[in-house]
Amino acid sequence: MSSILLVTSSPRGSESLSNAIATELAEKFAAQTGGALVRRDLTETQLDHVDGTFTAAIRKPAADRTVEEAEAAAISDKLVAELMAADTIVIGTGLINFNIYSSLKTWIDHIARAGLTFSYTENGPVGLAKGKKAYLVLAAGGIYSSGPGAPLNHAEPYLKTVLGFLGIELVETVYVEGVAYGPEAAEKAVASAKAKVEELARAA
Ligand SMILES: Cc1cc2nc3c(=O)[nH]c(=O)nc-3n(C[C@H](O)[C@H](O)[C@H](O)COP(=O)(O)O)c2cc1C
Repeated sequence: MSSILLVTSSPRGSESLSNAIATELAEKFAAQTGGALVRRDLTETQLDHVDGTFTAAIRKPAADRTVEEAEAAAISDKLVAELMAADTIVIGTGLINFNIYSSLKTWIDHIARAGLTFSYTENGPVGLAKGKKAYLVLAAGGIYSSGPGAPLNHAEPYLKTVLGFLGIELVETVYVEGVAYGPEAAEKAVASAKAKVEELARAA
């Protein structure tokens, strides 16, 4: 059975456009495929920023960890297991100062684990999270998918780089953009994102 992992990062709850559209997309995939939907809301799950305990913990075998290090590694291990069990990953974020919500960055710091989701080989790093497809839902005040704003968009290239590094090459992006240009523009942005969601769900 297929499994869908939904990762949402906006702290704006029901006001969030990325939360709403990413959730809609993941729920449609689950309904269509009958797959299990695992939700990881990064506002509910408050991950610690990478610190000395965490970096020490992930560099040694589990048996050698102190109690504090074992605790620090436990949530990371759980998030890695969620990622590895999924065959579809839906990630929602706002464009925040040209990049992603910091909660999502911290999630990435917890799931990019040498020996678990990627490995260093003689031929360089190799992603271990293969055979998965990812969908990005990016909400933005401005326009970043094309035009003069595109070079300022560090969110989509960054997420694609990280996912590619982990072995996830198939990535589709849904934009909810230009929402700061007034209510009419915001309405159009949501309608266009919902149309894209329908199209992607049909193709799944
Ligand atoms: C701290 C902060 C920084 C933001 N930075 C940008 C930005 O760099 N570019 C942009 O177009 N919009 C920016 N925005 C607007 C958000 O991208 C927009 O509100 C989006 O809908 C947020 O996603 P969400 O609705 O899922 O929370 C920013 C908003 C906040 C609160």
